Amino acid sequence: MRDLNAIGRIGIGNHGSVTRLVFSIKELRSRQVLIHLMRQAGLQIHIDAIGNIFGRLEGSDPKAPAVLAGSHLDTVIHGGKYDGPVGVLGALEAVRTIHENKVAVRAPIEVVCFVGEESSRFGFSTLGSSLVAGEVQAKDLTNAVDSQGTKLADVLAGLGISSRHLPSLARNPKTVKAYLELHIEQGPILEAIGKKIGLVTSIAAPSRFKAIFSGQADHSGTTPMEMRKDALVAAAKLIEYVETICRKYSPMAKGRVVGTVGAMKIEPGVINAVPGRAELSIDIRSTSAKSKERVARLVKQRAAAIARSRRVGVEILDIRSEDPVPLDKRLLRLTQELCDRKQIDYEIMPSGAGHDAMQIAKIAPAGMIFIPSRRGISHNPLEWSDPDDIALGAQLLMETMIRVANESL
Ligand code: GLV
Ligand code: MN
Ligand code: MN
Repeated sequence: MRDLNAIGRIGIGNHGSVTRLVFSIKELRSRQVLIHLMRQAGLQIHIDAIGNIFGRLEGSDPKAPAVLAGSHLDTVIHGGKYDGPVGVLGALEAVRTIHENKVAVRAPIEVVCFVGEESSRFGFSTLGSSLVAGEVQAKDLTNAVDSQGTKLADVLAGLGISSRHLPSLARNPKTVKAYLELHIEQGPILEAIGKKIGLVTSIAAPSRFKAIFSGQADHSGTTPMEMRKDALVAAAKLIEYVETICRKYSPMAKGRVVGTVGAMKIEPGVINAVPGRAELSIDIRSTSAKSKERVARLVKQRAAAIARSRRVGVEILDIRSEDPVPLDKRLLRLTQELCDRKQIDYEIMPSGAGHDAMQIAKIAPAGMIFIPSRRGISHNPLEWSDPDDIALGAQLLMETMIRVANESL
């Protein structure tokens, strides 16, 4: 908790909100503090070109593939202090405990902090873990631009990572035995059913794109209503449609689709001009790839229809579309067995939020442990988890790490 609070103070703002956008000074500072904590814990540190941090504790067999455990330290804008750090610092505390108690482990254990899990800055999520999994191609970066117009590709170039270097960030899957991630649930289920632990079966994946309506900026006082080409009114109709269609596809049988328009840019964005341009950022998610793709397609079709009927233009910019990811069944069974033995009441559940585990699952067996979030609130300064639940989650994470390091999967 001391470490969690220390990291939580970096980027703290009004009402206890935390803002550490990827590659901001605050986010870099949080990584520095983590490096310091890892050094103090006696870990051997490796930092890759993008800035992913790996803190390694050797086991008795240095040649064995490593057990990785961690999460991320970057946050959304005005987020909380638990989303991400609980997994990184939970893994660090687990390794400290293993080290201090001289628990024998065969495989090496690595505490990991992945860069840029949140999509809040560039619309591009799980950046560091996607690179480690070899999942990023130059074309994926084309439309990843922040609100200031900074391109993710340019930031990467500044770090010496040009498009041809992207594959070199991939980690050899043979060096990874498994990946484990402790995370807050970020939803209301565990609290509602009074359970302390969630064991995750699969992770819902997003389709993300922008819809940019272009009309004509005009004087708000002189332009008659019937002569306007208002881009924002067209955008408003699409926002409403996203909600309507996602509600239709929200029952379990239809794929539990959720959809959000979370960001919008209006130009010129002043009270006395008809909006000439409106840019919407759209995020559609589901654990069913088919339902997600269907809804995304319907939204794009509706955008075109709205543009036609209102005589404005529309452009769709795809950011990234991913498939839902199943997690490893053997790791799930192992965590179930550990919970049974410790008489912990757990829930087996999917994850609606995205996580680094969804990328690492593509190169190694991956498993996730959830702990309750108060009132299900996350991506909000009110995000909170009980220290006792964090401790329980970290304990379970540690026991899972030890078993995976010592046994064959
Ligand atoms: C990560 O928090 C996400 O947006 O799912
Ligand atoms: Mn998050
Ligand atoms: Mn997270």
